[in-house]
Amino acid sequence: MPLPDRLAHNDDVVLAYEVARRAGDFLAARPDVLHTETKTSDVDVVTHMDKASEAQIVQALRLARPHDGVLGEEGAAQPSESGRTWIIDPIDGTTNYLYDEPFWCVSVAVVDVAGPMVGVVDAPALASTYVAARGAGAWRIDLDGHHQRLAVSTMDSLERALVGTGFGYSSQRRAAQARVLTELLPVVRDIRRLGSCALDLCFVAEGKLDAYYERGVHVWDHAAGALVAREAGAEVTGLHGQPVSEEMCVAGGLVVHRLLRDILESAGADRD
Ligand code: IPD
Ligand code: CA
Repeated sequence: MPLPDRLAHNDDVVLAYEVARRAGDFLAARPDVLHTETKTSDVDVVTHMDKASEAQIVQALRLARPHDGVLGEEGAAQPSESGRTWIIDPIDGTTNYLYDEPFWCVSVAVVDVAGPMVGVVDAPALASTYVAARGAGAWRIDLDGHHQRLAVSTMDSLERALVGTGFGYSSQRRAAQARVLTELLPVVRDIRRLGSCALDLCFVAEGKLDAYYERGVHVWDHAAGALVAREAGAEVTGLHGQPVSEEMCVAGGLVVHRLLRDILESAGADRD
């Protein structure tokens, strides 16, 4: 297994890596026809592949870790008897998957009372798997099994920062997010909207984005990516001294995180 030495002896990392990679390989063999249903709005879709991916991951985890909890975006909800819970997004970036754009991934995290302990984000169309364990660092592993330790960018100016963001699925939320953008866009290098919160956070970890923020992301979107980003040196928080939550997720190196957080607070970015 191509895990770096510092992670290879962590059984949770090994299992998270195995289930995420297996689901990623399954999804990468994209069927010609995707059956879709809508969820919270007409533009919030789920495909039969999201559901099949989650079912496959949950089945493997129930066998390997019968006492751990499981929470998945597509409905898995097994209470924890061990104090540890596996948080799964079977496809983060479903709209990209639907349109055969490359920015989609499988996100698997293990969390305990102190937050994420392990995070794996597998992005087959980018030939990349991001892996982190709390206190042990974050890595990107490529298809050949080469791994590279991740470190956030050292950018210290918001004006030169490339900032990722994303938009929710309701018109009201999007109108509020557009108002925040009118304040932010004139004062940053540029904005990117990849379409996957987990990959946005991994891109911050890798220095491919200087920062990222989004209102409305769920724990399955950010749990694994936030650990990857933190272990690469990023701050990942909410606004007004709050931890990351559905209200707001802001990530970046120390200085850019502070500058971005300040402007988001003054723009009221955690309100609709
Ligand atoms: C979505 C993606 C997207 C973000 C949305 C999320 P999904 O997750 O992470 O980038 O903007 O807020 O809901 O629906 O593809 O799992
Ligand atoms: Ca999803």
